[in-house]
This record gives sequence, C-alpha cells and structure tokens, in this order.
Amino acid sequence: MHVLHVVGARPNFMKAAPVLRALAQHPHVRQTLVHTGQHYDAAMSDVFFQQLEMPAPDCNLGVGSGSHAQQTAAIMTAFEPVLLDRAPELVLVYGDVNSTVAAAMVCSKLNVRVGHVEAGLRSRDRRMPEEINRLLTDQLSDLLFTPSSDGDENLLREGIDAAKIHRVGNVMIDTLVRLLAHAEARFPNDLLPNDASSSYALVTLHRPSNVDDLPWLRELLEVLGRLSAQLTVVFPVHPRTRQRLESLGFIAESPRLRLLEPLPYLEFLALQRRAAMVITDSGGIQEETTFLGVPCLTVRENTERPITITHGTNQLVGRDLNRLQTAAEKILKRNSEESRQGCAVPLWDGHAAERIADVIARKA
Ligand code: UD1
Repeated sequence: MHVLHVVGARPNFMKAAPVLRALAQHPHVRQTLVHTGQHYDAAMSDVFFQQLEMPAPDCNLGVGSGSHAQQTAAIMTAFEPVLLDRAPELVLVYGDVNSTVAAAMVCSKLNVRVGHVEAGLRSRDRRMPEEINRLLTDQLSDLLFTPSSDGDENLLREGIDAAKIHRVGNVMIDTLVRLLAHAEARFPNDLLPNDASSSYALVTLHRPSNVDDLPWLRELLEVLGRLSAQLTVVFPVHPRTRQRLESLGFIAESPRLRLLEPLPYLEFLALQRRAAMVITDSGGIQEETTFLGVPCLTVRENTERPITITHGTNQLVGRDLNRLQTAAEKILKRNSEESRQGCAVPLWDGHAAERIADVIARKA
C-alpha cells in the first residue's frame, strides 16, 4: 500500500513525524512525503525536520506565502500533477492549515482516499480561516482520526458516517512524549537573562485576530510589558507577528520582555515545560501545556480544543486585557512547579500514531 503524506506549515511537522515512524513499522506500506512549502524559512521548517528526525520530503511544491485564495490555489495546482504521478492509495493530511484543505480538495476530485489526522475539532467561529479548513477537510475525508470524544461528536452532528471515525488520541502528544527528555537537555539558558531561568512567562501570538489588529496588538504588548515587571516574559516571535511589530515600530522597553526569533521544537518544548505560565493563541500549545500541567492563558474568545479547558490547564481570557492580567497574577500567586498535575485526557498517551497505522494497515 502506498501512503502519501502532505505537510506544509510548522504545526504539521510534529503531527506527521510520529505517523511516518509508525507506518514505517508496517513492511507492506510504502510512504511518500510531500511538503507544500507553505512555510519555507529554515526556522519554521528545516529545523523541525532535523529535530523530529523526519525523512527529507520526496517533493517540495515551493508555494510560499500569499492570500488565502492564492496560497490554496497554488498548492492545489502544484499538488495535482504530483498526485497523478505518484498515484498513492491514501493521502494523509494534518491539522487545519491551508495545505491541509488544498490537498484534500485535490484528492477528492481525483477520487483518491483521504485520511485527516486531527479531525473533528471545531471552534464554531467561521471568522477563523482554520475553521473553514477543518469543516471542508472533514467533509472530504474517508478516514477521520480524532484526538478526543468532542471530535467524534462534532463529526456525527455534521452527518459524517460513524464508520469513518477513528478516535486515536493526539499525535502531537506522541512527539512530545518521545522528545521531552531530549528537550530537557536543550533548555536555552543563553536566551534568558540570568535571573529568568527560575520564573518566566512564555508567550506566542500569531493569529490574525490578535496580530493583524494593530491597536489591539499594541494593548496586548502593554499588558506583557506590565507583566514583565513581575517576571521575565519570553516571546519567540512568528514571522507574521514580526512584520506587524515592525509596522508598529515596537521596541520592547523592559529588558525583561524578551523578543526572540522563532525557536526550534526542542528548545521551545524545554521552555514550555518550565514556564510559570504560557500566554498564547496557538492551538497546539493549548494541548501541550495541558499535557505538561503548565497553566495556559489563551488570548482567544473560543477554542476548538475544549478538552484542554475541561480536563487541562487552559483558560480562555478572550479579548479582555484585564482578565488576562488578573489571571496571570492569580497564577503567579499560586504557582509552584511541584504542585503541577499532568494530563488526564484519555488516549493522549504517546501511542496515537500507532493506532492510526493499525487502522490503515487493516484497510490495506
Ligand atoms: C499558518 C496556519 C496557522 C498555523 C500557523 C503556524 C493557515 C491558514 N494558517 O499561519 O493555522 O497556526 O501557520 O505557524 O494555514 N512567513 C515567513 N516565513 C515562513 C512562513 C511564513 O516569513 O516560513 C510569513 C509570510 O510573510 C506570510 C506570513 O508569515 O505571509 C503568514 O504565513 P502563512 O503561511 O500565510 O500563515 P501563518 O500565519 O503562518
């Protein structure tokens, strides 16, 4: 059986890596890896392939950046001939990025079966481009691999046949479990001021809703500046956010607000593990902090990962900066690393990709 994986953007890589490894244990499965080139910087892509020990892509479509329509169309146009040439029996797509939906659309028009890893997540907010990508990809998929029971429920509500749904757990956590010990050894001491390694907040912000709204971004940065009076704030900056900070002419005034380049997987995981708190708008980081038991404040009004609230450490602070500041202060008061409890989400156990490989192998 020939399985073709499509990846394109940073959060895809840690999801595909364990599935590639698990399928490699099945001798009758042949694999091809296609990178769309949606993310192309070394810091957003190459370093992840190295650290996650992924095979080099068999093919890179090199599509790069653009508007949603341009990027999605470019991926579809470049992927179609590759799909026809390679002729896999199954294409696996990951998460909710433009590469995911573009590849799924090409496959469904050419009657090639699609498996969606991380199916069923819903924020119910159609202003989010990722929500559109999730809805469409799930409708087009033949195998839907969900991370948690809310995923199954969402899919059933949308009329997806129960026989297509496989609850396997969280592949991103597979990668975390495999690499956490390596990450500990990569703690980036050199990036932190001397007093910081004991207590710091880790920040990531890249969603259009936070960073494309410049007045709002400026207010968010002011809150981070105030927080840095109490503890070091470490902020690896996504390229989109970097552009917006440049538009604002932003320069961090406090030496304890540390703006960094995007970090590799291991260094970022090490920082997450020891952070006093994480402030983010990322999807995956809500899950990783839940697994690690690290308090997480999510600067969004909704989440497609409600299990991180009900079973984990995540709190939505919405678009309310007072709430963000109060929640951060509350965490600081009660925080002690020793009292942290790790994840209690069923099937987030490091073996999700093996379950995916078993489903695929059974169908081969
Ligand atoms: C994409 C995903 C988002 C995911 C995020 C993780 C979609 C719709 N969004 O958002 O779900 O959470 O990746 O990072 O697919 N850029 C670079 N170098 C790169 C990549 C991007 O400089 O390697 C810059 C480009 O100027 C680009 C901007 O970042 O215009 C945004 O990149 P894009 O791929 O459009 O979306 P992300 O914001 O990264």
